Amino acid sequence: WKTTSLSVVVVGASGDLAKKKIFPALFALYYEGLLPEEFHIFGFARSKMTDAEFRNMIAGTLTCRIHARENCQEKTEKFLERCFYSAGQYDEAASFQTLNGRMGEVEVACGKPRSNRMFFLSIPPNVFIAAAGGAADFCSTKTGWTRVIVEKPFGRDSASSAALGRGLAAHLREDQIYRIDHYLGKELIENLTVLRFSNLVFEPLWCRQYIRNVQITFSENFGTEGRGGYFDTYGILRDVIQNHLLQILALFAMEPPVSLAAEDIRDAKVKVLRSMAAVRLEDTVLGQYRSRAVAGGKTLPGYLDDKTVPPGSLTPTFAACAMYINNPRWDGVPFLLKAGKALHTRRAEIRVQFRHVPGSLYKHKFGPDLDSATNELVIRIQPKESIYLKINNKVPGLGLQLDTTKLDLQYQAAYKAAELPDAYERLLLDVVNGDKRLFIRYDELEAAWELFTPLLHEIESRKIAPELYPYGSRGPVGAHYLAAKHSVRWGDLA
Ligand code: BG6
Repeated sequence: WKTTSLSVVVVGASGDLAKKKIFPALFALYYEGLLPEEFHIFGFARSKMTDAEFRNMIAGTLTCRIHARENCQEKTEKFLERCFYSAGQYDEAASFQTLNGRMGEVEVACGKPRSNRMFFLSIPPNVFIAAAGGAADFCSTKTGWTRVIVEKPFGRDSASSAALGRGLAAHLREDQIYRIDHYLGKELIENLTVLRFSNLVFEPLWCRQYIRNVQITFSENFGTEGRGGYFDTYGILRDVIQNHLLQILALFAMEPPVSLAAEDIRDAKVKVLRSMAAVRLEDTVLGQYRSRAVAGGKTLPGYLDDKTVPPGSLTPTFAACAMYINNPRWDGVPFLLKAGKALHTRRAEIRVQFRHVPGSLYKHKFGPDLDSATNELVIRIQPKESIYLKINNKVPGLGLQLDTTKLDLQYQAAYKAAELPDAYERLLLDVVNGDKRLFIRYDELEAAWELFTPLLHEIESRKIAPELYPYGSRGPVGAHYLAAKHSVRWGDLA
């Protein structure tokens, strides 16, 4: 770092992700002093803009957690001085040559002409390979490393993902490619391995003998408003379940890795994914939100009311599925994955339901099915990050009344952290440091697609209609039948 500058190129700099996540994350890292002293940001996109206009655009986006801190104004100005813009076409060599020229000038002018370069491809899938090629072939640095960050959609199924992989591999080595799944950058997901492998009270319980089922759920209390065009071609299975939730499952269920090294963790994740059977349609429930009238004569719009959604679309905005891992640790334990848009609340969590105490002396104190006595470990990913364990306890007093209560670790209170770092901050910093633990390796992606491709093809070829659910509800009733079929009760709906 002492002799080398860092150039970060955001390809697709005027897009939503860049504005909402990438620039604020880079600013937070800069503010915390985590970027090399000499770093520069280059925006690259189709629209014409001067450096000044680009800086102006970014300035409006830096409302990150750092915003209320000391010296923020001064730091913002210094940060913006390091931002440059180059307009171009994603599939045009000349545009990348111009960008390369600009980068070279700025790097030389800062007095540290040796440079590392990092590209974030925040662009539509149809220009992905062209832009990766442009970056790698015309903008690679000769004096340091060149790394390229890519984010889903990584194709639509096994075949298209493999084609994309071949396209990238024609320009980049695997060690240069950083496949982001931003859920892996969330604080509570990074903590998952710590929780499990450093606590004797958990690790021995992490198996079929003690765990009845695992529920990994994601819900948002807003619809696809404005993103219908993108969303409709992918649907919730590809948007959230095949990547974010399946990644969480892999990290949760993997065998202990040989070490914490990136390759060892990813070997363990691939192994668990490959021990799973592909999801079956009969173990899946699909839903789509419809409009709902609310107080004041207003109506919350249904998915099909979104102008960017094609009329009559069957794309699911909700899905739940049951999956099994065929290995000695998890044989017979259902893993239920559930995700939906326009539900009653915004929440993501892992919920582990434990088996009942065999021959419990207190059986008579709970209902006939003992469900109210189930111990649950809940890892609340967001919002209000927390980890709690539901236990049975005696209600204080002279009688013998039992109650289910919580051992509760609330992050806000325990760590006095006003706000946790955004996932993109952690992940971008890892790219700078060359740490691949939280990035997806090619074979992981391949294994993930194999689990969902047959299901996706069947849903699409048979034109399976989703079950409608009202905007703001708890989702389609079918999700309850699915759970019951696998002897599970959704804990988040209790
Ligand atoms: C994205 C999905 O990957 O994750 C979006 O494409 C979803 O549809 C988003 O809204 C959720 O991310 P977060 O971090 O806001 O929970």
